[in-house]
Amino acid sequence: MPSGMTTRIQLALPDDMHLHLRDGAMMQAVAPFSAAHFGRAIIMPNLVPPVVTTQDAIAYRQRIVEAAGPGFTPLMTLYLTEQTDPDDVEHAFTSGVAKAVKLYPAGATTNSASGVRDIANVLPVLERMAKIGMPLCTHGEVTASHIDIFDREAAFISDVLDPLRQRLPQLRVCMEHITTKDAADCVAADTSGNLVASITTHHLMLNRNHLLVGGIKPHYYCLPIIKRESHRQALVSAVTGGDSRFFLGTDSAPHPTHEKESACGCAGVFSAPNTLNCLALLFEREGALDKLEGFTSRHGAAWYGLEPSAQTITLEKRAEAVEVPGAIQVQNADQATTVTVFDPLEPLHWHVVRDA
Ligand code: NCD
Ligand code: ZN
Repeated sequence: MPSGMTTRIQLALPDDMHLHLRDGAMMQAVAPFSAAHFGRAIIMPNLVPPVVTTQDAIAYRQRIVEAAGPGFTPLMTLYLTEQTDPDDVEHAFTSGVAKAVKLYPAGATTNSASGVRDIANVLPVLERMAKIGMPLCTHGEVTASHIDIFDREAAFISDVLDPLRQRLPQLRVCMEHITTKDAADCVAADTSGNLVASITTHHLMLNRNHLLVGGIKPHYYCLPIIKRESHRQALVSAVTGGDSRFFLGTDSAPHPTHEKESACGCAGVFSAPNTLNCLALLFEREGALDKLEGFTSRHGAAWYGLEPSAQTITLEKRAEAVEVPGAIQVQNADQATTVTVFDPLEPLHWHVVRDA
């Protein structure tokens, strides 16, 4: 049957290989949406204060399990700082507490003030990771003020990533949430087997016109910033081509609606509730539904040394559109707020059914 006529597709339960769950009331509100559609997620450590040590990760993991329930496995990461201890990082990895270390260049994005100013200052940690096979997840943007915001990913590749990988070819690197053809080409050209990339739902669906034309859309503002259409097309080609080095990391990043709809709106798109519905639409349109499971449920697991989930979900195309809330409620002790859900700008007809 041609894929244009497919109306049901079963996938191994997806993994979200880049997720912000936050903490406290916000986590209570958002975690169930990830747990509804995903079995595991690589959890970002950019809390305030950040998740730096093995002990921090153990405590945060426990809070996530309590918020998300037993069917959801958080895969922890450690936030790399210039004070990070290589022995502690090795302990986190070999004891199974953390799957990866996250590099945020200082000032690159939300809660990145404790990040790395100079890669030279973290080389002992990176050398240890290369030795033990522990992946580095990068927020791949330079932060120098003279580099244009739309060029920050390309500059990261030439100025930071390439020199680092020449120095430490054994280091396993995941370029997270890539947004450019430059990054997709960089991964495709690699011959070492030590370079992969995650891609978000919104970067596959939107270009910068969606963000900026006809009025600024704060709910599409995220970092790395959404790029021009030719970059979006390169990302779509990368994921629909079936290359196992590309996998889903939603970068679902909840912020209170009022902090995004602000004179200085913060970066992050909350896409956990409708990511799979969106991806089914996108892959269907590209005639690539047969590549969806690799992207959502197999490639990322393989990179992190995991078997794909033994559980499954079914995506089913129905005449009626999925009812996605425009926003979800967050109830703090003293105030209520909302988080606005990613708007894909069209109705979603692929429904997610959790198989028994
Ligand atoms: C993320 C967040 O809000 O924590 N924001 C974003 O725009 N993606 C941080 C990040 O992953 O860059
Ligand atoms: Zn992120």
